[in-house]
Amino acid sequence: MQFPLRTLKDADLTNKRVVLRVDFNVPITNGKVTNDRRIREAVPTIRHLLSKGAKITLLSHLGRPKGRDDSLSLRPVADELSKLLGVRVILIDEINEKTSEKIAQLGPREIALLENIRFHEGEEKNDPELSKLLSNLGDIFVSDAFGTAHRAHSSTTGISDHLPSYAGFLMEKELNFLHSLLRDIKRPYVVVLGGSKVSDKTALIEKFIEVADTVIVGGALANSFLKAKGFEIGSSKFDSVEIANEILKKDRLNKILLPEDVVVLGKYGEKASTEDVSELKLENAIFDIGAKSATRFSDTIRKAKTVVFNGPLGLAEDERFKAGTIAVCKAIKSVDGIKVACGGDTAAFVENNGLSDCFSYISTGGGAFLEALEGKELPGIKNLVVQ
Ligand code: 3PG
Repeated sequence: MQFPLRTLKDADLTNKRVVLRVDFNVPITNGKVTNDRRIREAVPTIRHLLSKGAKITLLSHLGRPKGRDDSLSLRPVADELSKLLGVRVILIDEINEKTSEKIAQLGPREIALLENIRFHEGEEKNDPELSKLLSNLGDIFVSDAFGTAHRAHSSTTGISDHLPSYAGFLMEKELNFLHSLLRDIKRPYVVVLGGSKVSDKTALIEKFIEVADTVIVGGALANSFLKAKGFEIGSSKFDSVEIANEILKKDRLNKILLPEDVVVLGKYGEKASTEDVSELKLENAIFDIGAKSATRFSDTIRKAKTVVFNGPLGLAEDERFKAGTIAVCKAIKSVDGIKVACGGDTAAFVENNGLSDCFSYISTGGGAFLEALEGKELPGIKNLVVQ
């Protein structure tokens, strides 16, 4: 991993205009932030910048909008941040001359937050024009967006080609943790993966079956593997059976552990029941791992010295389908070693269910954390490193 970082300690911030990339991609329901962890974690950097008299413009994405989409406005985030910091957070819609004027006029208890940066078509293309426009808003670029560091976008990477760039305190904390973890991974090393898309995680799973001792797979991600193994999965969500098949072929040492029983609903929903995966019917849909699987997974986890958990293992936002994920978190708690939860949804689930003490470290990054663990360079930190 790239090191050492240029950190806030190295920056002259006095009265500077600072563009701060954060990852405020947080869960929002009915216009309210339901877990503010990613926002809270950026507060020390923001407070430090404020204390130095910097004029701060925050950049973040929220969700994966295709063009402008008001349901993915950062307005609820602005409100939450304002409450947390006790300062006014001004949400700015466009990027032009007027934006720079507004930023120049920010008072000591005011911060600007640019509306969802993914509303701009150029963001995900790392468009040089957008990167330049963003850089015009500051004298310095600081990144605390560890959760988005695996994306080479205008607001994560492009902008840092134009401005002196530094890692914020959260970025520094996350990378220091990863660095020490990667230096000496204690075995047995168990990775627990949930989520839905096997195609998103192909490279990851392939890498983990090389480097980890066991890869436990749950959630909709497991469904593609179950189908590839020839099990009936009814109307369960699944992604690519072909990819799952390829991965299974490469898993010569049988490191992948799949659920043997699952919690399902029938054709007409309502009552959940637990079934062995060999007994599923066409009308079933899988929503959680069953008790036998939770026990088997837990037995493996308890013997580990390093556990990385990127769940959840079922549709855990629904009370009926969170037992499997909770059981696995409790097994992780008893591990005598390093136990990491990573990912926005995972961290939110863990916190909202009072399970934070099951882990020795909770990362704000999901994909970013796993990609770094996989040994990939993160494009979002390339310009934060001392050359
Ligand atoms: C995340 O939640 O993992 C980050 O915010 C990155 O989001 P993305 O996967 O939509 O790029």
